Amino acid sequence: MKVILAERSGFCPGVKRSVDVVVEMAKRCDGLYCYGEIAHNHQLTKKLNGMGISVIHDINDVPKGSIVVIRSHGCPPEVISELKKKKCRAIDTTCNYVKKIQNLAGEFEKKGFKIVIFGDKKHPEVEGILANTTKGTAISSIGSARRLPSFEKIAFLSKTTENKDDFDDAAREVRKHCREFRKVDTICRETELRQLSGQKLARKSDVVIVVGGFHSSNTKNLAGICSSIRKTHHIEKAADLKKDWFKGKKVVGITAGASTPPEVIEEVVQKVKLFGAGN
Ligand code: F3S
Repeated sequence: MKVILAERSGFCPGVKRSVDVVVEMAKRCDGLYCYGEIAHNHQLTKKLNGMGISVIHDINDVPKGSIVVIRSHGCPPEVISELKKKKCRAIDTTCNYVKKIQNLAGEFEKKGFKIVIFGDKKHPEVEGILANTTKGTAISSIGSARRLPSFEKIAFLSKTTENKDDFDDAAREVRKHCREFRKVDTICRETELRQLSGQKLARKSDVVIVVGGFHSSNTKNLAGICSSIRKTHHIEKAADLKKDWFKGKKVVGITAGASTPPEVIEEVVQKVKLFGAGN
């Protein structure tokens, strides 16, 4: 049995940068806090917890004067001002690309556009983008696009990790709800590259394994894309693998979301190879 890895998989540059910063900070100071998971991956969060980093979701849980790292997905501007009030030091590792979308949303709103974001409104990145607007809204399906009222002008942007085809489909519906429509494809190039290389991998494989958090939006999208081509199993860790999946398979493709650490991917590769040796 041959095991092949997608050309692009695992940590994107934005997540890698956040993780590098937080790990470096943890070496230098005690009692470091992280606002939300640094990336949506339980194994990574567990590893960082072991280094003394606590994940908090509410600023009230941070003692005064603490050091708080802001995750790659970003946060609403109020979080930073609240931290300042508490005399905390905020280390902002929001991905530059996410920041760009936050600014873009604010600029479009100033020009009189209603901001509509394609993505789950509860996702931290979407929350952070919407917090840079006063009346922005989020939609995550064509159904919710249909329920939009009418506006004079709409600027339609996407969360960085959405599926491009879904974004384009939703845009066709959203544009019916205004006279002036601007669509800006703000899907991150890194996400697109992972999706394209996932498709390529699926076409070459008999079965695909997608590694990453079950709550990771980019990993779920990647699994969805691969499963539209080939039988796909989304797992979080090597222990989730089942030997039966590989019976009679000649080529196994493995890919991983942008928030999946390299060591988690490597463990999966090794275990799949072991199953292959036993087949
Ligand atoms: Fe940034 Fe793109 Fe990663 S937006 S966090 S480089 S998926």
